[in-house]
Amino acid sequence: MTTELSAEIIDRLVSTAIQARGRAYAPYSGFSVGAAVMGESENLYAGANVENASYGLTVCAERVAVFNAVAHGERIIKAIAICSGTEHPAPPCGACLQVLAEFAPKSGSMAVILCTSQGEWAESKLSDYLPRPFSL
Ligand code: THU
Repeated sequence: MTTELSAEIIDRLVSTAIQARGRAYAPYSGFSVGAAVMGESENLYAGANVENASYGLTVCAERVAVFNAVAHGERIIKAIAICSGTEHPAPPCGACLQVLAEFAPKSGSMAVILCTSQGEWAESKLSDYLPRPFSL
């Protein structure tokens, strides 16, 4: 698939997501996920899933990465890379898609890169997964 992102930026996003996966706190599911987002500044922010003994309090890697970026002052997120460590990389869950849509450059235009632990990746757009996000 074509991309507006440079090969260097994709490389950095993918390797940051893979490394972040190693920091997941997933003692209940055993399913570790890492994510990396790139803000408008082109800085990268990592996230990993953080589980809790009260299972419903778990936060996905994607949201941790987005909140990390927003807490650092970013308001636009151009791209996200996600590594779930599976042969067929898992796309973001519905809740994370809605959170990602909040910070997309314009409707649906955020790049979503799914990658394996070996660094293979495939790129799509947020609108491929969530064509009609909720908005007020
Ligand atoms: N998880 C994510 O981190 N991202 C997703 O998009 C889906 C699921 C996490 C949550 C939980 O810690 C584990 O994967 C199993 O659901």
